[in-house]
Amino acid sequence: MLDKIKKIKKQALAEILQTDSIAHLEELRVAYLGKKSEFNLILKGLKDLSAENKKTVGPKANQAKKEIQITLENKLSDLEDLQNVEKEWIDVTLPGKTNKIGHLHPLTIVQQDIEDIFTAMGFEIADGPEVESEFYNFDAVNVPEDHPGRDMQDTFWISKEEGREKGSGTVMRTQTSSVQVRYMEKHKPPFRIIVPGRVFRQEATDATHEHTFHQFEALVVGKKVSVANFLHIAEIFFSRFFNQKINVRVRPSFFPFVEPGFEFDISCTNCEGKGCSACKNTGWLEVGGAGMVHQNVFKAAGYPKGEYQGFAWGFGLERLAMMKYKINDIRLFHSGDIRLTRQF
Ligand code: DAH
Repeated sequence: MLDKIKKIKKQALAEILQTDSIAHLEELRVAYLGKKSEFNLILKGLKDLSAENKKTVGPKANQAKKEIQITLENKLSDLEDLQNVEKEWIDVTLPGKTNKIGHLHPLTIVQQDIEDIFTAMGFEIADGPEVESEFYNFDAVNVPEDHPGRDMQDTFWISKEEGREKGSGTVMRTQTSSVQVRYMEKHKPPFRIIVPGRVFRQEATDATHEHTFHQFEALVVGKKVSVANFLHIAEIFFSRFFNQKINVRVRPSFFPFVEPGFEFDISCTNCEGKGCSACKNTGWLEVGGAGMVHQNVFKAAGYPKGEYQGFAWGFGLERLAMMKYKINDIRLFHSGDIRLTRQF
């Protein structure tokens, strides 16, 4: 009997120590200490033994049971610890979780770049309302009532009453040129300003046209301001903006608020003027309009006749951003598609 107990205990302890699963451990508990286990039968049979045998076998059997129980408990707690460690294990090679942070919109970046370059050259930044009077948007900058110039920019009218005084309507401004006379009414030359801002045109949209976009106006007025000054400042600006040497050329054109007026091109930023598909092999990219401020504009601002000269220029911010970042559809800017902004 004693041998049997010894044998069962030995086998039980060996198997318990070997197992590495909690489920198997439970099976071993049932097998060795369960109701139907051999060991239990031995314990149950103790009562039938002689008093002599009871004395020797009883304590041994109970001790063996205790030992098996303790070994089971210890093993269980070891296996549970191991399981927890596995759960808590951290893979330090996994890439970290980063917080998503916001991005500046490419137009904001372009506007800030422009403002930095011009303020470094002593320019001031001016602005005006987006809902503008017909007067400042058209009349003040020499766009006569029935002039085709007014139709050139399909206007969103807020109010326009037939037969009312000229210039009394209200529009969504079609151009940042609307700020020219507003500013001049309050400031005496000499001055240098830029006016970045949003403008609106009733226009069918496509890859290069939007009804809402941004323009950028520059206005320099003094006693002696020339086309040469314009060319020089434009070349400095574009060279800094594109981080490469840029040449500027002008072609005669017409805008009511300037005389002479011209359109200006910059040397192709892609091929540096050699000719490529971006510039249709001309070596030049059209950028905007410019000219020497028309005396009628000075007159609208209340400046004495013939006293001042100045140049003005304007172009679309989106176009500039598209050139710089090679964005091929103007509609992306207002699409709200964060895949665009995430790249900046
Ligand atoms: N306002 C013009 C437009 O919307 C652009 C422009 C042309 C502005 C010539 C100027 C200028 O200041 O001199 O198309």
